[in-house]
Amino acid sequence: MRLLVIGGAGYIGSVVATRLLAAGHEVVVLDDLSTGHVDAVPAGALFVPGNLAATGQLERLLAGQVDAVLHFAARSLVGESTVHPELYWANNVGGTRALLQAMLAAGVTRLVFSSSSATYGQPESVPITEEAPTRPTSPYGNTKLAADLMIGDLARAHGLNAVSLRYFNAAGALGGAGERHQPETHLIPNLLEVAAGRAGSVQVFGRDYPTSDGTCVRDYIHVDDLASAHLLALDATAGDAPSGRHRIYNLGNGQGFSVLEVIEAARRVTGRAIPLEDAPRRPGDPAILVASGQRIREELGWVPARPGIDQMVADAWEFTKSHPPA
Ligand code: UFG
Repeated sequence: MRLLVIGGAGYIGSVVATRLLAAGHEVVVLDDLSTGHVDAVPAGALFVPGNLAATGQLERLLAGQVDAVLHFAARSLVGESTVHPELYWANNVGGTRALLQAMLAAGVTRLVFSSSSATYGQPESVPITEEAPTRPTSPYGNTKLAADLMIGDLARAHGLNAVSLRYFNAAGALGGAGERHQPETHLIPNLLEVAAGRAGSVQVFGRDYPTSDGTCVRDYIHVDDLASAHLLALDATAGDAPSGRHRIYNLGNGQGFSVLEVIEAARRVTGRAIPLEDAPRRPGDPAILVASGQRIREELGWVPARPGIDQMVADAWEFTKSHPPA
């Protein structure tokens, strides 16, 4: 198939693009490089610089016999979204709306969308199923939920076949494709920067949560397992009959690790001392986020190949060592 991967120069988009190429697809990457890196676009993909605001360019790309779209492009910093929500609504919701309109105009009906566990907010219970209430606690989460709702409405009205994948905590790397955010806010890359000697210590945001060791628990999922889910989701959009279906799947391993457990994994894997610094809770952080991955396992046959936290940290560590900051 000929696939348009929007945001394919970013962390998850570049890993999925790599896997799509390996599966024999033709890949066109559209990315404005606002947070992505041109060298992350895999060899073999056609790179087109640009973003969803350039509707003429988008329509031309879609008119070129695109079979399906995978949409990763978004702003994704929870903290920043509370300071500049307008950027999040414009990019994450406005951009998705522009994409949907262009897809309708071009007759492209298949979409896989990057949604987030942030659509749920503070869970009432874990593991979190797709039936859980959606009460985001940040503008970022609001925009991901709004995009999901919009995709559902347009799918039903116009016969699109779409899948939203609600990621929990993506981790690890696939060869040369890994996590390089600027600024970096995520736990594992921050730990590895310290292990690599590029930062002095890692802050632990809160030790007074109602968890076994007082630190937050998250469901980390290897980015390569995340990519496998995209390939299955893409196949599912072909098989939907009648058309007009929007499926939502949570993507996590169903196993939680506390911040201190992840720190121990990073120390084990790297063999380096990683000094810690206690810090206050980070606003908006739920105590425990663990996914129920049952629906995607049952409906799409997704089976994570690398659920171990040490494997995720080890793959991220290889990537960190080979990618010193510019
Ligand atoms: N943490 C630290 N120190 C750090 C960084 C993080 O203690 O330097 C803690 C956080 O407080 C949290 C845990 O480590 O408890 C994981 O934090 P991350 O920033 O790595 O990930 P989040 O769970 O905050 O974020 C993830 C996704 C977001 C998504 C969010 C939804 O990366 O895109 O889940 O809750 F919005």
